[in-house]
Amino acid sequence: MPEKRIVLRNCGVLDPKDISTYLEKDGFKAWQKARTELSPEQLIAEIKASGLRGRGGAGFPCGLKWELTSKAPGDEKYVVCNADEGEVGTFKDRYILENDPFTLIEGLAIAGYAIGARKGYIYLRAEYHYLLDLLTGAINQARDRGLLEQFDIEIRQGAGAYICGEESALMDSIEGKRGEARYKPPFPPSRGLWQRPTVINNVETLMNIPQIILNGCNWFSQMGTERSKGTKVFSVSGDVQRPAVYELVMGSPLRELVEGLARAKAGRFIQIGGATGRIVPYEMIDTPMDFEHILGAGSIIVFDQSRDIVDIVRRTMEFLAEESCGKCTPCRQGTRVMVGILDKFAHGQGEERDIRSLEELSSAMMLSSLCGLGQAAPIPVVDSLQRFRSDYEARIRKN
Ligand SMILES: Cc1cc2nc3c(=O)[nH]c(=O)nc-3n(C[C@H](O)[C@H](O)[C@H](O)COP(=O)(O)O)c2cc1C
Repeated sequence: MPEKRIVLRNCGVLDPKDISTYLEKDGFKAWQKARTELSPEQLIAEIKASGLRGRGGAGFPCGLKWELTSKAPGDEKYVVCNADEGEVGTFKDRYILENDPFTLIEGLAIAGYAIGARKGYIYLRAEYHYLLDLLTGAINQARDRGLLEQFDIEIRQGAGAYICGEESALMDSIEGKRGEARYKPPFPPSRGLWQRPTVINNVETLMNIPQIILNGCNWFSQMGTERSKGTKVFSVSGDVQRPAVYELVMGSPLRELVEGLARAKAGRFIQIGGATGRIVPYEMIDTPMDFEHILGAGSIIVFDQSRDIVDIVRRTMEFLAEESCGKCTPCRQGTRVMVGILDKFAHGQGEERDIRSLEELSSAMMLSSLCGLGQAAPIPVVDSLQRFRSDYEARIRKN
């Protein structure tokens, strides 16, 4: 199956340092169309009808988020592009930012117009500091051409915390505080950045906006499955011959991506959606990639027969324990206790009751953690125990 490049259509085609190359390719035409032919309400209706769902992981309907924010009372509103991309094995947003910053700026400006925001932020992960000049240059060129009237874009850099990709911690970070998850509700559309109504969207989500406005919602909603429309950009890595960023129509089988494009040979398991994503046996390779099955932010890591699943889960949990913001006890303590138990298995010192402890702790964390980090941290443990239990049992102390 060939790639379907909508989000990535300009990558490798434009000069990301020169806006004129973007303007030659219908750049900012969607922004002009939105401002001259559509009211904010019509614009939001178009995005709602397209069926676009957020690409940052949770798949929340984009148009609905915009509508809630636009209807929330208040004169001061914000739109934030989440370019934190901290998820393990994810590098698609980096590829987009490196190659086509202009479409992102256009998408952000259209979002601002739709919800009535005069200010937008791009929250850039610390490790992408080398992209700061490129992005600043792209914003300045758009401004110099009069394309950002009444809308200012500021870049804020993270300081290297995974939790700051979580939207409420991200807002705390922009506000100059230590990034910690907030209690919810309220959600950002009613009280977000500086307690004002705020839209937060992933880079890839915003990249889709100009094309939807130019080609219409029906063009977009014809692609994909019933509830997952459009395309999805994937970061594929691990035991594959061609690790790279690929874009496929939603609902394409995992096999197309992993064996077709990335040229993997039969592996043992695949981690989908990063550190807190699902771990599936390689035999599930014909699963469709959409929000109803398995998707997350689109990271796919393939592991071959030589990989040790218990060790990989242990290391994943070490990462999550290190990155827990510490605000809530289930996540702060739960991840650490799990590392301790997984350490025992890694050293062949596991006990039968440790498996029960892992299972009980997993359900407690999923139910009681404050944010998605703690709620989803047990997923690799639960999935590996369910599907590769014998790997744990083989490491139970015999005497
Ligand atoms: C621990 C954690 C980390 C996250 N990291 C990111 C991230 O790096 N980038 C991102 O777009 N969303 C991330 N999210 C999801 C955001 O909270 C939010 O749902 C998303 O930015 C909304 O944008 P979308 O609706 O366009 O997907 C993370 C969530 C959690 C719980």
